[in-house]
This record gives sequence, structure tokens and C-alpha cells, in this order.
Amino acid sequence: MSDRLQIPSISSAFAELKTGSDPGQMSGGTRFVRACLRQPVDRTPVWFLRQAGRYMPEYQAVRRHHSLLEICKQPKLAAEVTITAAEKLDVDAAIIFADLLLPFECMGLDFEFQAGEGPVIHKPVRTADDVAQLRTDRASQLGYVAQAIERVVAHFKDRLGIIGFCGAPFTLASYMIEGGGSRNYVHTKTLMYRQPDAWRRLMDKLVAVLRDFVRQQVEAGADVIQVFDSWAGALSVEDYRDFVLPTTKALIRDVQAMGVPVIYFGVDTASLLPAMRETGADVLGLDWRTPLGPAWRSLDYACAVQGNLDPIALFAEPELIRKRVHQIMDQAGGRAGHIFNLGHGIVPNTPVENVQQVVRFVREYAREGRHA
Ligand code: CP3
Repeated sequence: MSDRLQIPSISSAFAELKTGSDPGQMSGGTRFVRACLRQPVDRTPVWFLRQAGRYMPEYQAVRRHHSLLEICKQPKLAAEVTITAAEKLDVDAAIIFADLLLPFECMGLDFEFQAGEGPVIHKPVRTADDVAQLRTDRASQLGYVAQAIERVVAHFKDRLGIIGFCGAPFTLASYMIEGGGSRNYVHTKTLMYRQPDAWRRLMDKLVAVLRDFVRQQVEAGADVIQVFDSWAGALSVEDYRDFVLPTTKALIRDVQAMGVPVIYFGVDTASLLPAMRETGADVLGLDWRTPLGPAWRSLDYACAVQGNLDPIALFAEPELIRKRVHQIMDQAGGRAGHIFNLGHGIVPNTPVENVQQVVRFVREYAREGRHA
């Protein structure tokens, strides 16, 4: 058990904020959590989506002996992978190594990751009866994620921010219904449009499980929770508002009531940002197609923003990467509440040294005092 548990449901970095500590010398954890809450920081915090992944030789070495699910389910391995990546990159936050789809198992849906194909759900959810079969009473089986978080917290203390995560109800529902990734979301939207009651029950069941799952992560010491709505960009604003916003907002509010800030992330969401903002999330993750400056202004700076370098820009020469990093920092303008990140996850074959360079470029920008 971590010493953070002495303050029920409120992590130490978060508690420190609440007592209004001096922003002079900050740990990565304090810097990251303060930025999530739009409080001034000594320099912009930085971390990366999919920072522990196949591009990293240390991860590949573990993967040679264990499947993805084995790593997720063995807290010692999951913690090791999380810690190694965060140490190697020298970032301000570590996201726990896990996967979006883990809650499916305890709901009664079997799935596997097929090489090169991504996830495959063996018996997709297609009818009201399928929805009725889903269980919501076994989230405790996901305890291995919280156990991994405890190990990561014990290692870093508040040197780094520790991020727990879960999928958002829409994105998880889309995997359940399509049976895997999708281009047009035909089955998902058909259920949504034609069986709105079954859709709502599915969303409510997901929220019930996710709430329990996230509570375990917060009690284990996660400082911040990121909610991945990776495929929300497939929705029109009207559909997002009618079918997705209410349940997502309920989940995010419940997580905030546990005492941690929430980052809400999606891809291709430029037109959805005002509606996503209505969830009340502390931070919105921006994909790289959305220029950070205008996007933040359009949100009236009412929340923090995270992003948003194109992950494929990491394949460019260092000079171009530096220029893009500085352009994003210029757009953030030194305003409190920017967390530097990519616009989506690091892809396989990305040169590790370029990811490390980005961390240096973000810090160099702060040292040069360019905001002033
Ligand atoms: O550092 C980290 O971010 C690693 C932890 C992490 C993983 N998955 C491990 C993983 C996180 C945060 C996720 C979230 C996740 N999982 C998302 C949301 C993030 C996003 O990209 O928008 C999604 C959509 C999933 C579902 C998922 N898991 C897919 C579609 C795939 C296949 C991707 C591919 O390129 O093959 C996975 C597999 C997966 N999960 C990998 C990792 C490191 C790579 C596969 C492997 O190691 O075998």
C-alpha cells in the first residue's frame, strides 16, 4: 500500500495543491497535476501517449517472453514496463501500462489481440439481449491494474505524476459492438439509432464498471485519470450530444468526486470540442489536426489542454521537430494549463532518441524564457 492512502481518495500531489504550496521547486508530479488544474508551473510538463510501447527496445524485450495481456495482468511486469519508459524518457508523468479493453473480460466478453490486426472480440454485442447479458458486478477482477499502480507509486513517490486510465463509454461500446476496430461504425450507430434504449443500457453498464475500475486506480494512488474516447471523432455533434455526452459527463463527474483531475481525450474532435468541454473534464486532449492556439481560445481557456504534436513528426529531422515543438509552445503562450504531449500515440519504429529530444526541446523552450 502506498503512503498516499493516508489521505483517502486524494493523492499527495493533489493534496499539496489544495494547501497552496509554493510553486518554486516542483516535482514532476506536482508540475503535472498543477497544470491539469490550470495552476502556474515552473515549466510545461511533458509526457507521451503510448510512451511504453513497441517502438521501445526494452518493451520489445519483455514482449518476446509475454503476451500483451500477460504484461497487463502481472503487476510486477506492468509496473516495470511503465517505470522503464518513464525513466528513459525523463518525462513528468507515467501512464500505467494496461489496455482499454481489459474491462470486457469481467463483463463477460472474451477478446484477444491478433498480431497485426488489433483487438478481436469473439462474440460482439449486437442485440438488446446481448446487452442484458453483460455483467457489471465483477470489476474487482481488474485489481491487477491497481496493484501495478501501487508499485509505480511506491517507485516514483511524487517525483512523477501517475496517470490511471479507462476507455470512454462510446469508444468501448464501439469495440464491443463492431467486434474490433472500424472504419464506419455501422453496427455501433445502427444500435444507437434503432435501439436507443439498449444503447443507453449499454452505456450505463459501462459507466457502472468503469466507475469501480477507476476508483480502484485512484485508491491505489493514481494522481490523474485519463478517459480515452479515441473514436468519438466518428460522431456528428448532434449524435455526440444525444447519445454520448450525458453518460460520459456522469462518468467524468464521478471520477472528479474521487478527488482527482480528469483528462478527456479523442482524435479528430475539432468540431466536438465545445461539447466535450461540457463534460466538465479538467483537461481536453487535442489531436494534431486541431491547432492548439485557436482550439484553446475557442474553449475560452475554460479548461486545460494537452497536446498536440503529430506523432509521425517524430520521424522528421531534429530541426523540424524542434520547430514544431516551439510552434506548439508559442500557441500555448505560457498560459497556465498546457501539458505537452502528442496528438495521438507513438507508433512502432519511432526513433526513441527523437522522443527524448522532444522532452529536451520543451525544457529548452522554458529555459530560454520564450513565453516572456
Ligand atoms: O504507454 C502507454 O500508453 C501504454 C499503455 C496503453 C496500451 N493501450 C498498451 C498497448 C494504453 C494507454 C492503451 C490504450 C488503448 N488501447 C487505446 C486508447 C489509446 C489510443 O490509441 O487512442 C486503444 C484504442 C486501445 C485498444 C488497442 N490496444 C488497440 C487498437 C491495439 C492494437 C494497436 C496496434 O497498433 O496493434 C492495442 C494493443 C496495445 N495496447 C499495444 C500496447 C503497447 C501494442 C501491441 C502489443 O504490444 O502487442
